[in-house]
Amino acid sequence: GWKMEDVLEEEIKVIRGMVGTQDHVICALSGGVDSTVAATLVYKAIGERLHCVFVDNGLLRYKEQERVMETFEKDLHLPVTCVDASVQFLSELKGVTDPEKKRKIIGKEFISVFDAFAHDLEQKLGKKPTYLVQGTLYPDVIESCPPPGSGKTHSHTIKSHHNVGGLTKDMKLKLIEPLKLLFKDEVRELGKILDVPVSFLKRHPFPGPGLAVRIPGDVNQGNALDILRQVDEIFIQAIKDAGIYDQIWQAFAVFLPVKTTGVQGDQRTHSNAVALRAVTSQDGMTADWYYFEHKFLDDVSRKICNSVRGVNRVCLDITSKPPSTIEWE
Ligand code: XMP
Repeated sequence: GWKMEDVLEEEIKVIRGMVGTQDHVICALSGGVDSTVAATLVYKAIGERLHCVFVDNGLLRYKEQERVMETFEKDLHLPVTCVDASVQFLSELKGVTDPEKKRKIIGKEFISVFDAFAHDLEQKLGKKPTYLVQGTLYPDVIESCPPPGSGKTHSHTIKSHHNVGGLTKDMKLKLIEPLKLLFKDEVRELGKILDVPVSFLKRHPFPGPGLAVRIPGDVNQGNALDILRQVDEIFIQAIKDAGIYDQIWQAFAVFLPVKTTGVQGDQRTHSNAVALRAVTSQDGMTADWYYFEHKFLDDVSRKICNSVRGVNRVCLDITSKPPSTIEWE
């Protein structure tokens, strides 16, 4: 084991050495632990010459933008520009149903927003930023370079993640990857030393394509996004209230693109069904579905049907990974 205080000091020295006293650095914040800890570390090293951007792609959870911006600004004092690109993302996704196509479009839109941010910054500074911060971890490093002949392929070939290098076309940014020798638990430890709130460090992972991979088919169908946000919020809040959030690797709701019959009040309804998914896992590579108490499930299901318009049925996903993946797409 490393001593995290030493790692921190060493990293700050290295970053100051690389960036010098004149260069500017940019960073895309996802709202996740890794990019947040990486940015906080770089901010500690070079201060206001770090420029972060957070992109609202229209596929975020309930109040996600407000919640993460509050942590960035109030707790961490990071210089962050928030770009609302939801209209742009959602219109590009209109009618698109293929999961990999959805991911590609989201990745491409993200790059275009990031590119615009970098160029605006260049205008403002009168010079190009030179470095890009990425929250790459050690397991990502090993995974992207499997030993030759190992028969292993990069997991990104299974699902194309967009959080990989080369974000802007013509800026030739050099990378700063201050976490690239660390494992997840070490990043959390480092985050603690950097005063990132513990509740933030314990947040479940959330995929880059966001709610898009939790709405099979077109993300624009009906009120899918709106319904999903409400159901997800009720589910997560119930999990927190039950004191089991930290036992779970990831929990979320999935919008089911079917309508089923129900009876609410004395009315027959024809509304959407949703699925709840919660898994335990070490690293996301394999996962087991989480055993909730029946009482918990009963309460959540009632609460969802009573308070979310357009939902009259709640299902529970009881598959592990494999054979399923954690996300539905
Ligand atoms: P799966 O669904 O493949 O997910 O079992 C494993 C872990 O990866 C996350 N995930 C993604 N993260 N972009 C991301 O940044 C993606 O396209 C993506 N797909 C899945 C998923 O949430 C889980 O933590």
